[in-house]
Amino acid sequence: MWGPEGLDEVEAELLGPTEDLKGQDVLEIGSGAAQCSRWLAGQGARPVALDLSHRQLQHALRIGGAFPLVQADAGALPFKDASFDLACSAYGALPFVADPVLVLREVRRVLRPGGRFVFSVTHPIRWAFPDEPGPEGLSVSASYFDRTPYVEQDERGRAVYVEHHRTLGDRVRDIVASGFRLVDLVEPEWPAWNTSEWGGWSPLRGGLIPGTAIFVCERD
Ligand SMILES: C[S@@+](CC[C@H](N)C(=O)[O-])C[C@H]1O[C@@H](n2cnc3c(N)ncnc32)[C@H](O)[C@@H]1O
Repeated sequence: MWGPEGLDEVEAELLGPTEDLKGQDVLEIGSGAAQCSRWLAGQGARPVALDLSHRQLQHALRIGGAFPLVQADAGALPFKDASFDLACSAYGALPFVADPVLVLREVRRVLRPGGRFVFSVTHPIRWAFPDEPGPEGLSVSASYFDRTPYVEQDERGRAVYVEHHRTLGDRVRDIVASGFRLVDLVEPEWPAWNTSEWGGWSPLRGGLIPGTAIFVCERD
């Protein structure tokens, strides 16, 4: 699943035809509980799920799956050059790092020539709107151009959650700067079957503004 709209890879085939995934080495970046890797393994691929968070990987271990789990920073991947055919990330790592080019360069390094990296992030336009699912979430409340990160702190003033905003142009520039070729930018529309509300996500907002941006990149 690429995002809360519910676009899934069986329908989108952004990593290529599903039947071609068999036997492919796939790196999942910011895997969380490794839902994508579990699905990829089910298609006969050889996924590796990577996340910075030990706790998330414990959830992955508890749910199960016959694939490796790796705890590491996406900006310093512990793999040799050209180790994978594909890489994917559903909202993993990229929205949370100050230097996305570093992550993109690392992913490109570990991909084989011709390899594809598909990643989804919050659509940049959402930065300008309050994170509310109802009508109050439909009025611009902040500058789209303000790159000041969103930070939550604990009682000792330590950052415990950080989200970094990039405009659409920033994202394209980051991809190009890392050496990838941008093949597609998918903005999933909110489907009629999806009636769920979750955080700032809802059919009301989803029918009017995009919520997710999916970038399809290739290493030539
Ligand atoms: C919003 S969750 C998405 C998880 C999963 N891909 C999904 O679809 O549910 C973001 C994940 O990125 C991980 N993450 C954040 N920064 C990271 C980094 N620098 N390197 C690797 N993983 C990171 C977090 O630990 C978290 O599990």
